[in-house]
Amino acid sequence: MNQDYIQPDAWSIIEEGFDKDRVKSSESLFSLGNGAMGQRANFEEHYSGPTFQGNYIAGVYYPDKTRVGWWKNGYPEYFAKVLNAPDWTGIDVEINGERLDLAACAEVRAFRRELHMKEGWYHRSFEAVLQNGTEVRVEARRFLSLDSDELGVIKYEVTPLNREAVIVFSPYVDAGITNEDANWDEKFWEPIETRHSSREAFVVARTYKTHFKVAAFMHNTLFRDAEEVCAEPVRTQVREDKVCLSYEIAAGRGERVTLQKLGGYTVSTNHEGDKLVAAAQEVVEAAVKKGYDALLQAQKKAWAEIWEMADITIEGDVKAQQGIRFNIFQLNQTYLGKDARLNIGPKGFTGEKYGGSTYWDTEAYCLPFYMATKNQQVARNLLAYRYHQLDKAIENAEKLGFTGGAALYPMVTMNGEECHNEWEITFEEIHRNGAIAYAIYNYTRYTGDDSYIPEKGLEVLIGIARFWKQRATYSTAKNKYVILGVTGPNEYENNVNNNWYTNYMASWCLEYAAAQVYRVKEQSAPDYTRVAEKTGVNDAEVLQWKETAGAMYFPYSETHGVNLQQDGFLDKELVKVCDLDSSQRPLNQKWSWDRILRSPYIKQADVLQGFYFFEDHFTREELERHFDFYEPFTVHESSLSPCVHSIQAALLDRMEQAYAFYLRTSRLDLDDYNREVAEGCHITSMAGTWMSIVEGFGGMRVKDNTLYFTPKIPAQWKSYSFKINFRGQVLKIHVKASGTEFTLEGDTPLEVVVNGNRTKIMPG
Ligand code: BGC
Repeated sequence: MNQDYIQPDAWSIIEEGFDKDRVKSSESLFSLGNGAMGQRANFEEHYSGPTFQGNYIAGVYYPDKTRVGWWKNGYPEYFAKVLNAPDWTGIDVEINGERLDLAACAEVRAFRRELHMKEGWYHRSFEAVLQNGTEVRVEARRFLSLDSDELGVIKYEVTPLNREAVIVFSPYVDAGITNEDANWDEKFWEPIETRHSSREAFVVARTYKTHFKVAAFMHNTLFRDAEEVCAEPVRTQVREDKVCLSYEIAAGRGERVTLQKLGGYTVSTNHEGDKLVAAAQEVVEAAVKKGYDALLQAQKKAWAEIWEMADITIEGDVKAQQGIRFNIFQLNQTYLGKDARLNIGPKGFTGEKYGGSTYWDTEAYCLPFYMATKNQQVARNLLAYRYHQLDKAIENAEKLGFTGGAALYPMVTMNGEECHNEWEITFEEIHRNGAIAYAIYNYTRYTGDDSYIPEKGLEVLIGIARFWKQRATYSTAKNKYVILGVTGPNEYENNVNNNWYTNYMASWCLEYAAAQVYRVKEQSAPDYTRVAEKTGVNDAEVLQWKETAGAMYFPYSETHGVNLQQDGFLDKELVKVCDLDSSQRPLNQKWSWDRILRSPYIKQADVLQGFYFFEDHFTREELERHFDFYEPFTVHESSLSPCVHSIQAALLDRMEQAYAFYLRTSRLDLDDYNREVAEGCHITSMAGTWMSIVEGFGGMRVKDNTLYFTPKIPAQWKSYSFKINFRGQVLKIHVKASGTEFTLEGDTPLEVVVNGNRTKIMPG
């Protein structure tokens, strides 16, 4: 049974009723972010029950020393952790001498959380009966500003319900925090200085080793009803890494008192290290001048602009609607494309897991969403991120014994260095290199921007091709090139030979890189000369790539008529997932790793991932055969799995199945299919959810500079609509059972192919 406590609503995520067992899950689901920072939805007031504290700053990480039982040459020195950042959100609340703590109250009533996705703010309310008999109503509103992305705002209101009360608010800023996933009980933050006045406090801390310097700040204002009251602290507690200011205020029965807390971070990545406090003061000053209402108005406006382009509407199915909006909301909370140094972490700002920032997820799953819902520069920035890390990818390959400019991009990275340290992933999950090349192809295909490859992409493609050329070995027995000892996208197999997806990707990369070298040489001679001088690439080398690509070995079963996931796949005991006892699932929580490795179960699309990327290389009949062969063994225990299957089921006109996969991908976290949402949300796969609508149901493809659509609609829906930014024009697609409407918000007629028919869409 999946989790089902989130109330269905088209625009909000709503929880009603207080349940201690749900707190950690809700902390993930109600997370906030603004691209620059983010936080789990921890209670502001003290909470002594199970909680997972999390505040994060984009790009601020720590190189946690690799912890393995037996060191192997080539291991990265460290695992990058996205760091739990100083907490500026905390507010201890004391009511008539008793600390407010929902885990210790005599009673909690009318507990409710609502995440207003449309407007970008979060609201929590409840009534509590304290052990001392005082009853209070609490309303807490919070948002992280999109306009001023170093700023967060909290409005925390308390109303005594049955008697008057003396309330002490003790807001604090605390850099004495740790990570849940710390390996060595190391401290990550070195306190540098604190400053405070009656209303403000600043705690400056620096990360050990990486030396990111951060000023976490707060500014407090007190109100009785709507009237501001003097906020002189009755107590000030200062530690080297924490400042807490306590304000006392008496409230009559039914009288509301409010603490408004502004807070956030200024970071040395954006300011000079010795001017962080001054920068924070400027942020506060500007925010105080605007005031809460204007800040919230600006927040609503900024989110309205995002939704204007990114929204997908679904009529007739509120759970599906809520699912897609949750996904779009979280993606925009995580990455807005404003800062080319940043990328999209699989958990965004909702948890610590996948502590590194960048995975192949960005290229394989996220790029299409950002290409279509933002301007082209955002997608170009995502590609350029890897271009700027090419030297590190070459170094990374050198550490593993590759030479001559071969590049192996890391599986997980913060700054271009590999920082994932399981050998079967670090050394073996090399298919990631292919996704980076594929993204260059995908971007060029979608945007028509032919300048990226000569300017930057070609060097990346050359490095990647060189890697594949060296990684493939010639087998005399087979008279073919083989790729040994790999992990494919299906991480439930390690150290396999000839993973079909990896071999196919390698072969494609070699061909594609060769074609681009020829194209640049012919069409952009000065760029070619520059790149050839820098990399030493020449015709003879390119011919070798083509020779390897052409002679690549692909495991195939004549009996089943399918490409085999890897050598020996058919030797497994091929019991389908539907014949497994459901008590055994999820396998990764129930079975030993050894048992998983020997089983036929597939964590996520593997062969089918290849069919997704290279759809045009295969017939529909081939897709159907492979889908029918592999899907029954797939457990979808990676969030990246259901979306690919949804797209393919839609292509095969299996709309019920496509719809089921759609719900699973879009509500993966809301309904907690994989029973792990407490650790954080699956942000990168959310872009896959977007693809399941646009590419799956909408059937959108780009071929030869033209948009193609084959719109289909699940029986459960009355209609759905989405918008895409295609080459500087916005096209709105509205699909109903009776037909599809296209509206072009641009000034140049656009030719599209709908269900095989070429049509011209006129502006307006
Ligand atoms: C998946 C990988 C993915 C990673 C981060 C893993 O569970 O198997 O494909 O890159 O999660 O999302």
